[in-house]
Amino acid sequence: MPDMEGTVFLEKARQIAPDTVRILLTGYADMQAAIDAINRCGVYRFLTKPWNDEEIKVTLKRAIEFSELEKGFVSTVRLLSQMGEMHSAHIGNHSKRVADLSRKIAQELKLSEDMCFQIEMAAMLHDIGKIAVPSSILEKEESKLNDVELSQLKKHVLQGELIALMIPNLSEAAHMIRHHHEKFDGTGYPDKLRTDAIPLGSRIITIADSFDKLVNHKNHHEALSPAKAVDFLMGSRKEYFDPEILKVLKGYLSTKTSEIPQTHEVTLAFDKLELGMVLSKDIKTINDLLILPQGTLLNEKTILLLKKYIESAPVVKEVSVFRSVI
Ligand SMILES: [Fe+2]
Repeated sequence: MPDMEGTVFLEKARQIAPDTVRILLTGYADMQAAIDAINRCGVYRFLTKPWNDEEIKVTLKRAIEFSELEKGFVSTVRLLSQMGEMHSAHIGNHSKRVADLSRKIAQELKLSEDMCFQIEMAAMLHDIGKIAVPSSILEKEESKLNDVELSQLKKHVLQGELIALMIPNLSEAAHMIRHHHEKFDGTGYPDKLRTDAIPLGSRIITIADSFDKLVNHKNHHEALSPAKAVDFLMGSRKEYFDPEILKVLKGYLSTKTSEIPQTHEVTLAFDKLELGMVLSKDIKTINDLLILPQGTLLNEKTILLLKKYIESAPVVKEVSVFRSVI
C-alpha cells in the first residue's frame, strides 16, 4: 500500500476490530516477517506472492470456518457465564462488563491477542464456580458469613478452575480464574500469592471485577462514578491491587469514560423493554410459575418468548430490569 505497510495496517485492524480474521499476503518469504506478522498482527495465515488462486480460495474458506467456530465458542462461554450469573447475586451482565474491561486493560498493556483472549474468557467465567455455592451463602454480605460459609464461598475459585479446565483451549484462563481473589499484598486466596507471582490475567481481572462492583453497586444510590471508583481502588484498597495496572486503568478512563457502562434498576411495562436490558427480578405468571429468571439478558428471542406468554397467559404487568445509564 502507498501510505502504510501491510503489517501496520493489520496491527491497526487487530486493535480496532480484534474479532476479524487477518490474512497477510506478502512479497517477502522471510521467516522473521512471518513471525512478526503472527505476533504483532495476530494473522491467521501468511501467504507469499506470487499467489495461487486456488490456495487463496481455500484459505478464505477456512478463515470463514475458523471465524464461525470461534464465534460459536465465545457464544458458548457467554451462555455458560450467563447461567452462572442467574445463580449469583451480581448485578445483571457483571461478568460481560468485567470481560470487556479486562480485555481493554490487556490491550492497553499491549499483550498478545492470544493472551487478551484468555483474559477475556477467564473474566467472563471468573465466578462460574459460584454455581456450586448455595444461594443462601451468595445472598449474604461477605462480612456476615460464618467461618464454614466463608470457606464454602472461597471454594468457588477452585470450582471455577475445574469447570474452565473442562473447556478445550482454556487452561491458561483456568489458571487465572483460580487466582482471581489473590491480593497484591499476599492476603488473598486460595494460595496467598503476592505481587508478580499472581498471574497477570488474574491481577487484571480482580481490578476490573472490583471496579465494576463499585460503579454498578446493587443499590444505585451507592454506586460510584468511574473516576471515583478508580480513586477508591488507588486509595483505601491500594495494597490489594497491582499499582501499574491501576495506573493503566486510570489512564484509560481519562479518555474513555463514556465507554464504561453503569446500570440502574427500573420498572417498565412490557412494551417499553429494549434489547440489552437484563432482568433484575424473576418474571412469573400470576400463579407463580417462572417464565424467565433474574439475570436473563433481553435479546430478540427472550423478548419474543415474553410476548408469546403475554398473549397466552396472564402475567404481571410490569418488569424490573437493569438499564445502562451511560
Ligand atoms: Fe470471585
